[in-house]
Amino acid sequence: MKIDVLTLFPRMFDGVMGESMMWKARHHNLLDFHAHDIRDYSADKHRKVDDTPYGGGGGMVLRADVVVPAVEAVLGGESGVPVILMSPQGRLLSHDVAVELAAHPRLVLVCGHYEGFDERIRQLAATDEISIGDYVLTGGELAAMVVIDAVLRHVPGLLGAEGGQERDSHADGLLEGAHYTRPAVYRGLGVPQTLQDGNHAGIERWRRRSALRRTWDRRRDLLLKAELSEEEQYMLGEFADEDSRI
Ligand code: ADE
Repeated sequence: MKIDVLTLFPRMFDGVMGESMMWKARHHNLLDFHAHDIRDYSADKHRKVDDTPYGGGGGMVLRADVVVPAVEAVLGGESGVPVILMSPQGRLLSHDVAVELAAHPRLVLVCGHYEGFDERIRQLAATDEISIGDYVLTGGELAAMVVIDAVLRHVPGLLGAEGGQERDSHADGLLEGAHYTRPAVYRGLGVPQTLQDGNHAGIERWRRRSALRRTWDRRRDLLLKAELSEEEQYMLGEFADEDSRI
């Protein structure tokens, strides 16, 4: 997958893109990543990229005559590439959005700062706009890194055959259940016997119940949308009974 980011702060990406899964993706040629400095596309001798808003008011606005040519230069004439503005006004990032984006061979992410983008950047260069949550960040860079991480988990080959991303929280509409590793007892707290017994059907059932319980406790809203078997619906009834006894 090829990912280009346009940013005023390309060095912000150095650390994150050089470690862990991002490093591995680049090292194994599964990711071709470039952070481009938007200032390189400014025609101004002071490399200015922003200006005051028409109509007054505070803050600065990123100029369309800088960002649009920057996007075009990075695309190099390639068509059909999603050009995504990082913005708190975009559609919310979710598991499904990450899977959808991972199906593209190439993405271009544009990070804003200041008050935002001149509207003509949306009209002329962007095909999509994504938010990572209902809060405002100082700039789109951290949001772009979140998007890249969430997307790369779904690029084939990156996490390996045992990547487990099909069990990830949200992959099936539920939160993931509890995990344990050695030691079997730590500070008096044990590991559920079912997980140590080696009975795969039993372990699968335990994991499903644990995922359901966690979702019931923390994100009951997700259960309304999840596809549950009869046995799982029965488990929800058990949780309701357990709760009413507390
Ligand atoms: N830029 C500023 N806030 C943002 C957010 N919540 N998501 C994506 N990009 C942003």
